[in-house]
Formats: sequence, C-alpha cells, structure tokens
Amino acid sequence: MTAARVEKIISALDIGSSKVCALIAGKTDTGDLIVLGTGQRESRGVVRGCIADMEQAELSVRHAVEQAERIAGINIDRVTVGISAGGLDSMLAPVEIELGGDRIEQEDIDDLLAAGRANLDMQGKSALHVQPTLYSLDGVGGVANPIGLHADRLGVDIHVVLADPSPVRNLDLTARAAHLEVDNVVVSPIATGLACLTAEERELGVALVEMGASITNVSVFIGGMLVGLQTIQQGAADITDDIASTFGMRRAQAERLKCYYGSALSTPRDHQDVLDLDKEDGGNVDDGGTPRITKAQLNAVIFQRIDKIVSEIGLVLKHLGFSGTTGHQIVLTGGGAELKGIAEHFQAALGRAVRIGKPKGVSGVPEAHSGPAFSTLIGLVRYMASDRIDLKGPLDPGDDYADGAALGIIERIKRAIRENF
Ligand SMILES: Nc1ncnc2c1ncn2[C@@H]1O[C@H](COP(=O)(O)OP(=O)(O)OP(=O)(O)O)[C@@H](O)[C@H]1O
Ligand SMILES: [Mg+2]
Repeated sequence: MTAARVEKIISALDIGSSKVCALIAGKTDTGDLIVLGTGQRESRGVVRGCIADMEQAELSVRHAVEQAERIAGINIDRVTVGISAGGLDSMLAPVEIELGGDRIEQEDIDDLLAAGRANLDMQGKSALHVQPTLYSLDGVGGVANPIGLHADRLGVDIHVVLADPSPVRNLDLTARAAHLEVDNVVVSPIATGLACLTAEERELGVALVEMGASITNVSVFIGGMLVGLQTIQQGAADITDDIASTFGMRRAQAERLKCYYGSALSTPRDHQDVLDLDKEDGGNVDDGGTPRITKAQLNAVIFQRIDKIVSEIGLVLKHLGFSGTTGHQIVLTGGGAELKGIAEHFQAALGRAVRIGKPKGVSGVPEAHSGPAFSTLIGLVRYMASDRIDLKGPLDPGDDYADGAALGIIERIKRAIRENF
C-alpha cells in the first residue's frame, strides 16, 4: 500500500480570548485531512473574542503560526481565520424569478443568484457567508439541482451570515501584520459545527453551545445548516475571575483550582473535602497559617456563574426557536466543556440531552490539541476542505466587506457553480 500524497495545504487560525492556535493540515489525494503541524500561544490583546490590541494579538498569532510551521517543516503565507464575536447574525433570504414554464438552464440559476445577492439587505454589516441552499420550483421546495426541469417560477433560499465590519477588518489586519493573507473569514460556529456535530444531528436539529474563555456561542442547526446564532458575553474565564475575587487569590491560582478540583456537580462529601492549597493561594487562613477552602465552597462559586450562563443559554434557545421535536439535543464544546460534570449540570438545568462535542475528522491531531477547546480550529480546516458554494466577495484590501453589490458578482457565481456541481 502506498502512502497517501498531500495535494493541498490548508492552514487555519483561531484567535480566542485565552489562546491563539494555528493548524497546518494536508488534504491527501484520497480526500483525508492530516495534521502537519499545530501551534498555540496565550492570547493577548483579545477581549471577548474581538481584537482590542493589534500589536499584542499579532505577536500571539506570529508565535502560534511559527510553532506550527516549525513542526510542519513548511512556511505558510495564507490562512483561514475564524470569527467568534462581533455582531454575528444569521438569516435566510428567499428570492424568486419568473421563467414562464421554460426548461431551467445554468443561466437561469446565475440570474436567480445574482438577483438574490443584489437584493440582500446587509443592514450595514459584512456578509461572511452567502450560500444558496435548496431551490424551489413553483413554490415547492427541496430541489438540490433544478437544471433540466421546467417551472414557471424558480426560487432559492440564500443563507446569509453577517458580522459587524470592524471586528472582521481587525482580524484581517492582525493576520496581515503577521504576514499572512486571509483566504477566508469563517463564522466560528459553522466551523465548530462541522467538527463536532454529525451530519445527521445537523440535519435533524441540534443546538451547539461553545463555551470559550470569555464568550459562549449558541447556534442552532436544522436541515443541514446553521439557522440561528447568538453570542453570550460570558465564559469559563468568568468562573476563574469569580473564584479569584471570592477567595482573594491570584487568577493563575484560581484557574488551577477550577481545572483541578472544580466541578459543576455537588456531592455530600464536598463539605468535608478541604482543598490542598499552596500558601499563596490565599483564602481563609486557619490557625496554622494555611488557607482553608472546602470543595463545597469552591463549587458554590462555580455553580453561581454556571447558572447565570445556563439561564442565558435557555433564553437564547427559546429566542432561536429551539423547541418541540427538533429541540432535544444539545452539544457542548469549547474549553469550558472540560469542567467536570458540566454536561450533567446542563442536562438537568435545560431539560435536554447534552453531550460533550470533541472535534473529529482530521487525523494525527496531537493529544494536547484534541479536546473541545480545539473544535473551532479543526472545524476551520474541515470547512475549507468541504465542497461549498459561497457568493460573498473576496477579502481583498480595499474591499469594504459590506459591499452588497461587489463587482464581478455574476462571474463569481458562475465560477462557484461550476466548481460545486
Ligand atoms: N479542565 C477544565 N476545567 C474547567 N475549565 C477549563 C478546563 N480546561 C479549560 N478550561 C477553560 O476553558 C477556557 C478556554 O476555552 P477556549 O480555549 O475554548 O477559549 P478561547 O477560544 O480562548 O476563548 P473565546 O472563544 O471565549 O474567545 C478557559 O477559561 C479555561 O479555564
Ligand atoms: Mg474560542
């Protein structure tokens, strides 16, 4: 058996609030994705998912990418970047044209998509994804490829995901400052959904909750696509901050206690379990001068924050219409999903089945980068390797990202269709 040959390099960058990580992957001639190199750095200059200090963020990006390049043994000059915050919004824009019963040709589809694209209401935002979904013939939907069929009216729902222009531009500028061209800015939940949801879950209906350090993204997938998303401005780092301020200790110590002893479930023993603390950990000091915190006290702080986050998630799910028969399954991912007992806690609080989503579909991922905190990173590579039509404009310098009638749209649509059908 001969080894598969790498035909294409795909590089991805996830700039999170706590870590920046890079992945260089190879797509083989057999269609598989394999890791060539990964890199990670503590994130600086990123506040609640948005770039707040470009110089600091650029340094983190540079270091993460250099590490991945060293391991892969190649240098990269292009990346795909995920965006996790910044006014993300998802909608379906229906469009229909009259055909008068004629046989549908490629030109009719071009006209339809061009009309849809031209009429999009961008609400002053940037279009990050503009993807035609299923077509309809005379109002009857569910048609994947209408070419060759006859109809009086041809329609399509165009799936659009928008973001505020400035956070997108800042991500692009940060990558450029680190000498990287941005191939694509992908809305993180779309990528994350590819990495840790099954195709069947996305088809039947599922909610994806990604709890990062500073933001929690809630998205809903039905019919194979993302149909709604909302960002909650709280995450697992808020738990750390609560612990630090409650017990008067440093953030690093609070983080250690959270990850090592913390749990989202309580047991009767927790009142007796006194945590093994260093003197510097702080907290109530007993007669011998050693800080004294029980597991029950630590978990009480954790529960308080988790309950705040869960109640917001419940409201968002309601707002996104995640209910009834499609509203059963929740998949929880992101670094926050590593907290002990969190799936059980969410399941009890939200009354739905909750499982932890780990990223899948790329082989050779190092153990250290295989957990739920890396779902977005791995998803970005899977997104770039997938077949898809996207009618959005290229991220060129000078492109204002919000230009609904960018030049060359017809050409781009034609090319996208040729490439994808
Ligand atoms: N074992 C653990 N127990 C509890 N929390 C954990 C554990 N492991 C990681 N975390 C938390 O996960 C968070 C990091 O998650 P992640 O890497 O998904 O965030 P990010 O992508 O950097 O940030 P964001 O997506 O919010 O911008 C940190 O707050 C960290 O404390
Ligand atoms: Mg993240």
